Amino acid sequence: MGSDLLKSIPRSLPQAEQGLFSPRCDLPTLHIFTCRFSPERKPNGVVLNASERRSSKPGIANHRASGAAGAQRYNCPVYDKTAIPTEFDHIRKEVNNVQPQCREQPPDHSPQARGCKHWNNSIMPFKNLLMVGDIVGEPGLETLRKHLPPLIEQYAADFVIVNGENTYEGKGLRPADADAIFKSGAHVITSGNHVWERWQSKDVLINNRNVLRPLNYPRENVGYGYTVFTLPDGTKIGVINLQGRTFLPPIDCPFHAADWAIGRIEHDTRCIVVDFHAEATAEKMAMGWYLDGRVSAVVGTHTHVQTNDARILPGGTAFLTDVGMTGPYDSVIGMKKEVAIRRFLTQTPHKFEMGQGDGRLSAAFIRIDTTTGKAHDIEAISAPEFVRSRS
Ligand SMILES: [Fe+2]
Ligand SMILES: [Fe+2]
Repeated sequence: MGSDLLKSIPRSLPQAEQGLFSPRCDLPTLHIFTCRFSPERKPNGVVLNASERRSSKPGIANHRASGAAGAQRYNCPVYDKTAIPTEFDHIRKEVNNVQPQCREQPPDHSPQARGCKHWNNSIMPFKNLLMVGDIVGEPGLETLRKHLPPLIEQYAADFVIVNGENTYEGKGLRPADADAIFKSGAHVITSGNHVWERWQSKDVLINNRNVLRPLNYPRENVGYGYTVFTLPDGTKIGVINLQGRTFLPPIDCPFHAADWAIGRIEHDTRCIVVDFHAEATAEKMAMGWYLDGRVSAVVGTHTHVQTNDARILPGGTAFLTDVGMTGPYDSVIGMKKEVAIRRFLTQTPHKFEMGQGDGRLSAAFIRIDTTTGKAHDIEAISAPEFVRSRS
């Protein structure tokens, strides 16, 4: 198709416009290679020199050099396509089968755009975070090993937080479990009420500064409730682990604990992520509003069910009531479903048995502007996606 269209280009076109069609590429291109965020730069971030600025040749040369791969660049939404002469729109639409983009259209921060090779991260102050929901037992670890590394690549994640309170057979976290989580790509492990139910958890909480327990448990308990992690490029990210008090033990106030921890961390960094381990949606939402504009993100854990309310609050804090569970979904929040049903039918305790099968990872992707500490994007993730219709 491209070759036919190339032949159909009127010979009367100005020389410069004819030059916009690359003879080395099967797909003609019409787009001007200026980055929307920096019109003085090529898409790869290199500043144009004086002669390059006077003509569109640099962009054309860039495309020619890349051959057919250059056609893919046309789909990159960071390029400004509106500078193209409108009389060629019909050709462009036909060749590329896409609509020209409006200059007023906001930048696209979709995963596709983030995955574009021409997105110049070096001039963007963003860090990409993944927050992974509660790992439940060995099935949860298996799911994490399988799905986290591809997600890190897909989302270009710089930093990963994993909640590990249920890793050891549904309750607690042994040193070996923490090692497995770190090897899968985590930088910090958070936890919650169940972390105390195995004595082995205390070894991990004492010996690893990047394994957290809720900060607002009485101070006599071992472990740390917040940490500041330094990435290889020097960027610091604070993580605070808090626990709610509604339908959970009446520990210290998580709101005041948050104030205290933010006061300690904000001298080091404006990028702060809160894992709020709580049962009640209202308490979680209240925490989101309470910390809006003071932290980068408030993400809930504990219920093992992902909510559909991921959003950026007005002050710039990313919020998600609950990120969900990583583990066997052929279960009731990780528990063998027959046992869980029996508990509800009989209203008496039954021995916990781990669910098996249908492993899925639940997570939240958060993109943070490190210069302000404010969140730019949040997206709830389920890997693999749930089946939502029957074929
Ligand atoms: Fe949990
Ligand atoms: Fe919990």
